[in-house]
Amino acid sequence: MLQQPAIAEDSPLQLLVPSLAQIDAYVDALKRDWSPDNIRLGAAAAEHLAKIDADAAGFVASLDDRDAKAGPITLPDGSQVPRLPGYSRWIWDDGFCGSIGFRWQPGTEALPPHCLGHIGYAVVPWKRGHGYATRALARLLPEARKEGLKHVELTTDVTNLPSQKVITNNGGVFVRRFHKEPAYGDVEAFLFRIDL
Ligand SMILES: CC(C)(COP(=O)(O)OP(=O)(O)OC[C@H]1O[C@@H](n2cnc3c(N)ncnc32)[C@H](O)[C@@H]1OP(=O)(O)O)[C@@H](O)C(=O)NCCC(=O)NCCS
Repeated sequence: MLQQPAIAEDSPLQLLVPSLAQIDAYVDALKRDWSPDNIRLGAAAAEHLAKIDADAAGFVASLDDRDAKAGPITLPDGSQVPRLPGYSRWIWDDGFCGSIGFRWQPGTEALPPHCLGHIGYAVVPWKRGHGYATRALARLLPEARKEGLKHVELTTDVTNLPSQKVITNNGGVFVRRFHKEPAYGDVEAFLFRIDL
């Protein structure tokens, strides 16, 4: 069996504005069953592939959406809610590592109850466990501060220890256990907060 090359923990990591220059690597990750959406998983990946097929330039532009122009967000039960201003960044070293997204309501730290935190991230399975999510979140926090936020909220599934570690590695503190909105099913989650 081929040995995977070792990934240096200090390998350079960048948060890239999504662009056509890296679209092939993004498509490759989607086709390898990775999803940038931790709730809608494969359904979201299939939607992204279809959008790229139809209009790749429009798709990458829609991932940087501070004016919330890309239309409503679909929740797991199929209901739709207004999109918040937000953007995604592609986590990159010598290739595609995953994505991290940030959304917020201008002028306040508050989020609507259906929005599960300011920041979400997903690393491709073949690059997990090498500090990418921890370092990507560390890179994004100063950008959140630039929007005037004094803190950000993040949520995780109760059993998602890696994600909880990513947050506590970045100074996050546990706030409470809560029930997600009914649109997500009868699911409990953890709420964390990181002061900026
Ligand atoms: C959660 C996720 C983003 C973590 O990405 P990652 O790049 O592997 O995270 P890191 O390498 O920065 O690891 C963070 C911590 O979790 C630990 N960890 C990683 N994988 C683990 C595993 N399978 N089991 C237990 N701990 C694990 C690491 O050891 C590290 O802890 P440490 O700092 O004490 O060593 C990744 O597993 C993922 O994409 N999961 C699916 C999507 C998801 O759950 N996103 C978060 C939604 S809230």
